[in-house]
Amino acid sequence: MKLVVGIGLRGGTSYEELTALVRDGLHDVTGDVHVVATRTGREQEPALKRLAQDLNAELRTFETSELATQSPPTPSEKVQHHIGTPSVAEAAVLAAGARLIRTKQQSPNATVAIGHLPTPEHDEPAREHTTPAPAYDESTGERITPAPAYDGSAREAVHRVIAERRDVRRGFLDLPVDDLLLTRVLEAAHRAPSVGLSQPWDFLVIRDRDLRRKVHDLATAQRDTFAASLPDDRRAAFDGLKIEAILDAPVNLAVTCDPGRGGRHVLGRHADPRTTWFSAAIAIQNLWLAARAEGLGVGWVSFFTPEEVAGVLGLPAHIELVGYLCVGHVAEFATAPELVRTGWAKRRPLTWAVHHETWGNRDVSIVNEALEAGEPGVTRQAGQAGEPARAGEPGEGATSGQTVHVIIGGDASSLRHPEDLAVDLGPTKPPANFGVLWRHARTAPEATEFGIELARDLALQGIGHLHVRIADRTDHAEAFAQGIATGASASGLRHSSA
Ligand SMILES: Cc1cc2nc3c(=O)[nH]c(=O)nc-3n(C[C@H](O)[C@H](O)[C@H](O)COP(=O)(O)O)c2cc1C
Repeated sequence: MKLVVGIGLRGGTSYEELTALVRDGLHDVTGDVHVVATRTGREQEPALKRLAQDLNAELRTFETSELATQSPPTPSEKVQHHIGTPSVAEAAVLAAGARLIRTKQQSPNATVAIGHLPTPEHDEPAREHTTPAPAYDESTGERITPAPAYDGSAREAVHRVIAERRDVRRGFLDLPVDDLLLTRVLEAAHRAPSVGLSQPWDFLVIRDRDLRRKVHDLATAQRDTFAASLPDDRRAAFDGLKIEAILDAPVNLAVTCDPGRGGRHVLGRHADPRTTWFSAAIAIQNLWLAARAEGLGVGWVSFFTPEEVAGVLGLPAHIELVGYLCVGHVAEFATAPELVRTGWAKRRPLTWAVHHETWGNRDVSIVNEALEAGEPGVTRQAGQAGEPARAGEPGEGATSGQTVHVIIGGDASSLRHPEDLAVDLGPTKPPANFGVLWRHARTAPEATEFGIELARDLALQGIGHLHVRIADRTDHAEAFAQGIATGASASGLRHSSA
């Protein structure tokens, strides 16, 4: 196996520290290191040069802007704010054209990730995916062999299509989509799981340009409505975004849901009717993945109300639109989501999304992580010492140019400016309104955590300037505001309060 070692490191990192980290990273991995990859500007680092020499590997560098277009599994906000890419080590592996087999590992001054280059040798399964140890039946003591995984290349293909699926809005080619090909993709959608096997979806295939034009007009009107709702700087960014390819793609698909499919007693639906719509959404994901594997681009458009599209398409009253998709052959698939490449939004680290047993119990406390990533002088919370900030990577300082201004007190319903966002900490869920966030914190620490999450979430969404009003004057409001301050500091947002 031809290996790529991706490295992020601080200037002056010692050779001993770097080699120890690389040795750990390569532990149990078979193959030869062909490339040591890092970001431009680090090629003269003595430790790195020596490492590449020792390994007899090419030292390859990538511009930060190129690293920023990759989709690494563990991006770091801290690194994003410090050097302008959410990852160096993992992104360098991906930029070198390798598949990641080991996500980043970290020492005080460096990060290392390992990948392998796509050659036929990869059919050999990676060690960490080998079949688990046998289990034994508790009553009979009989050995039970776990079902085998797919072989290496098949597994690789699954992960590859998941990673390389893109929402496509540009670059559709003026080529017809073959019926057999479309049927294969629709078959994949139709194999999706569904609640009680109710299969609530239908697929309306639209090629007619006049019909597509009508749907396009709806999307254009909703685009204008959305643009008018945005703060000025956000609107300027939105103006440069393409949000649909209804007329560019030769095929449009309206994927619908019949909430009554299967009659009265659909198994698994009675307590949660949303499961019907979930089923239809899963069918779309199957379609999206199969289309990617077939080289077909798919772009999902949701810039309309389901009812207005249903009206244009003449759907029966009981049929609801779930997704409207633009489908066709494309020149290429981007390596990263368009919204990431344009700076509109960033990916959320997996470590923030995984909780163990109780809500908030993550591998890394987001409170500590934020405190460690924040400006110097912000102190660690009592009783939470000792956890490494794993989503972080060493780097140099900078801020994002985004600001958040927090106001405590006042009325949650007063949203006078597009920059205003109200937080309702009360126990009663307020009426649905995207301008009012409901965050009923049960304790002050939870309020702090919610505040951190909010600041980090807003930073991921690339907001420019925001006024957050916490419509409450309790201790929890103070704790929430403190959380926003900590989260803002960690995310490179400038922060002020009143
Ligand atoms: C339910 C749903 C609705 C979406 N609506 C739109 C849309 O109206 N316009 C658009 O450009 N992208 C739309 N997208 C695509 C997302 O922006 C895209 O999935 C996301 O930015 C991640 O990029 P990727 O799909 O390339 O990984 C939608 C995606 C989903 C799942």
